[in-house]
Amino acid sequence: MEYRIKSLSEFQNDRHLKELEEFSKNYWISSGWSKEHFTEQSGYPLKMKLSFIAQTIQEEIIGLVICSEKQHELLKCSMDPYLYIHKLVVNPDFRGHSVGYNLLDQSIKEGERFDLYEQQLNVDEWNTHAINFYIDCFNFELAEQQSTGKCLMKRGY
Ligand SMILES: CC(C)(COP(=O)(O)OP(=O)(O)OC[C@H]1O[C@@H](n2cnc3c(N)ncnc32)[C@H](O)[C@@H]1OP(=O)(O)O)[C@@H](O)C(=O)NCCC(=O)NCCS
Repeated sequence: MEYRIKSLSEFQNDRHLKELEEFSKNYWISSGWSKEHFTEQSGYPLKMKLSFIAQTIQEEIIGLVICSEKQHELLKCSMDPYLYIHKLVVNPDFRGHSVGYNLLDQSIKEGERFDLYEQQLNVDEWNTHAINFYIDCFNFELAEQQSTGKCLMKRGY
């Protein structure tokens, strides 16, 4: 299957933003994001450089990873700041073709270019498929089980 990975920083005109909004409505597990989430959120424009889409050659969006830079709240932490992965989703029709792997890999590599060598994310504890994906493919570790039903996962710390 042929697809391209593109930085969200190159994907900012009105048509692109509409497509992103549509994709997030269709494929986010919980609620979708509006256009503003892809433009005016805190962390812009670095956030867009750390975030990527996967597109078929017909330019259909099939996957998306949204990442940003975050600061540790406690001074005792070893590395500061780190890459926070907000969302990673692939259209179910295109899963199992390394799209998710390549999207996240691209964000991690881009983060390292900005000296972000630690990565963190929160995932629902019921989402064992995603948890195993992060552990098996990227060596993430389960760092904390939260009362909200989310697990904090970390790597590179
Ligand atoms: C989790 C999710 C993003 C994975 O996306 P995907 O494109 O299907 O995953 P990939 O094809 O890249 O990876 C799947 C497999 O390929 C393997 N793989 C692919 N490329 C690889 C590479 N270059 N090196 C090593 N392993 C690789 C992985 O080991 C993985 O193994 P599996 O077959 O046991 O699952 C996708 O299932 C999804 O969108 N889920 C719903 C949303 C979600 O849960 N998001 C995470 C919440 S935070």
